[in-house]
Amino acid sequence: MKICQTAHDLAAELAGAKRVVFVPTMGNLHEGHLALMRLARRHGDAVVASIFVNRLQFGPNEDFDRYPRTFESDRAGLEREGVDVLFAPTEHEMYPVPQLYRVQPPPLGSDLEGAFRPGFFDGVCTVVLKLFNLVRPQVAIFGKKDRQQLKIVRGMVQQFNLPIEIVAGETVRADDGLALSSRNGYLSPAERAEAPRLNRVLRGIADAIAGGRHDFANLEADARAELARNGWQVDYVAVRHGLGLRIAHPEGFDHPNLLIVLGAAKLGSTRLIDNVDVVPRVDED
Ligand code: PAF
Repeated sequence: MKICQTAHDLAAELAGAKRVVFVPTMGNLHEGHLALMRLARRHGDAVVASIFVNRLQFGPNEDFDRYPRTFESDRAGLEREGVDVLFAPTEHEMYPVPQLYRVQPPPLGSDLEGAFRPGFFDGVCTVVLKLFNLVRPQVAIFGKKDRQQLKIVRGMVQQFNLPIEIVAGETVRADDGLALSSRNGYLSPAERAEAPRLNRVLRGIADAIAGGRHDFANLEADARAELARNGWQVDYVAVRHGLGLRIAHPEGFDHPNLLIVLGAAKLGSTRLIDNVDVVPRVDED
């Protein structure tokens, strides 16, 4: 695996590549990321992963400084997966001068995650656009665990006519249902034992909807209350329409098969997010 730290080296390395598949990450790789690398391999000839902890997408009180940086084990994992190129730019390489031009995300960018993490999607879209311009992939892979990010990046690619196919990777879960995440490493043993509840309550809502319930607001409120009773500080639990993540209306035309249930909540100082489809689908993101 070739490691490139500069845009110049990366361009030289990829000069002859035919179909480049790109998996952007912030490192601290777990099995969920490695599954995305294997998915990438099926979509092209040159698999490029990036590791860059993007300051722009962290709020002033968020965990930028303590975000785990585990370059050596990440490198070894990517090597084992047969990744061809690792792009690991320095902060100076990505932001040689303050980034004054930013991507302005759509209204969805201020909803759900964006409502609790102001500026998050501005930071994500800006770095993803820059990475796309540096890597110039034909295909890019994003995990469904960050469902809103996946939708917003997909929309950016469409609306800016970027010639990139966005492919969605399934969320990888621990045996008890907890979605794998770099932030799980922050959890104490007691919090780790409690953490799967987030997935359980979201799945509970999804199953209730699949079973015919339409009282979304009640389902959301009950889930929030269960989490709060068990020590969580809940940001949101929301039933949304799968295509644009718009609010789902029980009396509307939202086919239950298209609905997604999303949640974000803090356990101690660790903020976890997850989402489940009412009916799991493999084709749509
Ligand atoms: O999902 C992530 O890890 C990040 O948001 C991304 C896409 C690598 C941009 O920094």
